Amino acid sequence: MIAQERAILKIIVAITGASGSIYAQRLLDRLTDDRHEIHVVLSNYARQVIAEELPDGLRLPPSARQYGLRTMNAPFASGSNPFDAMVVIPCSMGTLGRIAQGLSNDLLLRSADVMLKEQKRLLLVPRETPLNLIHIRNFETLLLAGATILPANPSFYSRPATIDELVDTVVSRVLNQLEIDTDWAPRWLEEQE
Ligand SMILES: Cc1cc2nc3c(=O)[nH]c(=O)nc-3n(C[C@H](O)[C@H](O)[C@H](O)COP(=O)(O)O)c2cc1C
Repeated sequence: MIAQERAILKIIVAITGASGSIYAQRLLDRLTDDRHEIHVVLSNYARQVIAEELPDGLRLPPSARQYGLRTMNAPFASGSNPFDAMVVIPCSMGTLGRIAQGLSNDLLLRSADVMLKEQKRLLLVPRETPLNLIHIRNFETLLLAGATILPANPSFYSRPATIDELVDTVVSRVLNQLEIDTDWAPRWLEEQE
């Protein structure tokens, strides 16, 4: 079922200090239509990587709400206020490991912990290479706990011609997971208009 027929989703977009701030930007760019409630949290290192990678800084959708990492005064810090999904994009190995260990000592980690305990959708978009055994074991722990791991691995069969198109091959998969319509995305063995 696609988003047009569904209720408004409450989505947390968390951005960490892995390379690939552009993945978060392109996702937020696709969530600008006011259809959904967007809540944004950045790790401290996300700011540093954004400064390196996004020349114009991060642009939030006008209706999005941003929260500081240190506050717990956010609706999604408690399971009593159910949210539909949380996407950690890009997700550093540090944050991934802290979520796997159940640390909840800032808003981002607490929110991920809430999503898992409430059995809501937690989508992690890790970016690291190569991977070590600790990363792999954390992946396993998180999968067993109910998270979805969607690595920031672009695809090439649609022949992306720009960095944005390449990034969108990942962003469209994130939106598919959220059951948000991706009419704009090329699909394998389907003609484009
Ligand atoms: C420019 C830059 C790129 C980075 N790229 C990655 C990366 O791709 N993956 C990763 O796990 N960490 C990466 N790091 C390291 C993380 O930022 C670092 O481990 C940090 O502690 C993560 O903190 P956070 O999880 O709270 O954002 C990068 C750091 C910098 C400065």
